[in-house]
Amino acid sequence: MRSRWSPSVFDATHELGDDQVTRLLQAAQWAPSAGNAQPWRYLVAPRGSRAHQVLVAHLSRGNSGWVPRASVVLLAVAVTEPDAKKPRDPAYAVHDLGQASAHLTLQAHAMGLAAHQFSGFDHDAVAAELGLPEHARLLAGIAVGVRGDPGAVSERDAERDSRERTRRPLAETAFGDAWGTPWPGLTES
Ligand SMILES: Cc1cc2nc3c(=O)[nH]c(=O)nc-3n(C[C@H](O)[C@H](O)[C@H](O)COP(=O)(O)O)c2cc1C
Repeated sequence: MRSRWSPSVFDATHELGDDQVTRLLQAAQWAPSAGNAQPWRYLVAPRGSRAHQVLVAHLSRGNSGWVPRASVVLLAVAVTEPDAKKPRDPAYAVHDLGQASAHLTLQAHAMGLAAHQFSGFDHDAVAAELGLPEHARLLAGIAVGVRGDPGAVSERDAERDSRERTRRPLAETAFGDAWGTPWPGLTES
């Protein structure tokens, strides 16, 4: 888990096999969820597919250079059931989608693939063009592929991959008996 990261330089000629994409989806399939509701859905958009073309047309400027090069993008969607007898707080659908996507992302890493999640695109336009129903909320994309040659991409995208990665200290994340008081058992920061 510690060696996972989000590369921005993908090999634009690499293709993922259907069996590999299926393996990624299986990792998400077996994530835990509130009441086993499994509120995640994924639209699979291999480079060149119609879904991919729709997404690429609506990427933010910062994502338009690197996302299209990935072999496949999985569009992550949370579904809620507002008409259920006992509707669950819709926040859990979002929570559980994130958890399924984390499983998928770590599975990609375990398979030697690069995975980079992103939210910078016009969600409403993509959702409308791909026919998402009312209670399906498109939240993110997961670009998956293999790392490419930094010389083949813009300087900006290549530079991102050499930036230092940082994290907030655990003492600011893990609290003990009161909010804001670091859990005293921490052995590392
Ligand atoms: C929900 C979500 C949205 C993100 N959106 C973008 C994005 O639009 N563009 C981008 O380049 N990276 C995006 N990222 C990647 C984060 O910037 C990245 O995960 C974070 O900087 C930590 O880096 P690491 O994954 O290498 O540890 C997103 C990640 C997540 C989980």
